[in-house]
Amino acid sequence: MREGAIGGTAARATDGVIKEVIVESDAVRTFCFQEPHSPWPGQYMMVWVRGVDEIPMSFSGPDRMTVHAVGEATRALFDLQAGDALGLRGPLGNGFSLVGEKILLVGGGVGVAPLAFLGDEARKAGMEVTSLIGFRTASDVVLKSRLEGLGELILTTDDGSAGVKGFVSAGLAKVDLEEVDQIYLCGPELMMWDVINRCRSRADRIQACINRYFKCAVGVCGSCCLDPEGIRVCAEGPVITAERLLEGEFGRYRRGPSGSIGSCQG
Ligand SMILES: Cc1cc2nc3c(=O)[nH]c(=O)nc-3n(C[C@H](O)[C@H](O)[C@H](O)COP(=O)(O)OP(=O)(O)OC[C@H]3O[C@@H](n4cnc5c(N)ncnc54)[C@H](O)[C@@H]3O)c2cc1C
Ligand code: FES
Repeated sequence: MREGAIGGTAARATDGVIKEVIVESDAVRTFCFQEPHSPWPGQYMMVWVRGVDEIPMSFSGPDRMTVHAVGEATRALFDLQAGDALGLRGPLGNGFSLVGEKILLVGGGVGVAPLAFLGDEARKAGMEVTSLIGFRTASDVVLKSRLEGLGELILTTDDGSAGVKGFVSAGLAKVDLEEVDQIYLCGPELMMWDVINRCRSRADRIQACINRYFKCAVGVCGSCCLDPEGIRVCAEGPVITAERLLEGEFGRYRRGPSGSIGSCQG
């Protein structure tokens, strides 16, 4: 077993100067920085988009993040180009642990970003990597060629415009799970919850990179806590084993910026 990164709860803030912006799709871009940050896959950074907000972003490589524009801060990021600088705090949190010889990466949407980074490390460690990735439609597909370079790739789209028609679960039926030592998840919560539910008997062999509303990102404000255990996702996660997610709020609800309970869709 190769251990994932041991997360630091404090990290100094630095200036991240953008070296290159890669357009992955209409709504997704990869921002490469001039300096790498020594993260482990699954760890994240807090990205300060000056004058707008500070938001959590996973590393999609040692020197990069891959961003889906969904709101104010992520859209403001899309105005930046090579030579512009962002405030960065990180690497933060606990990343994935590489376990076994044959692994399955299961990603949805921009959730494929930290998994592509994990796949790179798994290949370096001599592991066999299969990727199962799902998107709404063909024009949303990102990082496909990077994942194809790691091993077998199964692609699904909800509308069938590329790959297998249907949700990621349709692709899961094409994988011999008996052959897989560990499953790694990242993507929309309901997608991850569906996979965890279908693979309940092997929940001890599933690691999920999950998303909650982060404020401090150092484990003190309680904004990101998961009921009922109170797991602080920013500090103890964002990678959590599926066993710990089975009986709590995950897949059922999540709290927004005010702490009020809302849907876990999206
Ligand atoms: C550990 C972690 C890693 C992430 N990695 C990536 C990544 O690699 N690529 C990517 O595109 N996105 C990633 N996200 C999600 C990203 O942080 C949000 O999309 C972003 O904060 C939205 O900010 P906004 O101002 O553009 O949108 P807003 O207008 O603020 O909100 C749009 C949506 O994003 C959610 N959101 C807003 N702020 C936060 C926050 N601080 N924490 C969690 N969710 C928030 C809101 O609930 C809402 O559903 C990650 C989130 C977490 C917690
Ligand atoms: S964001 Fe403050 S404790 Fe996690």
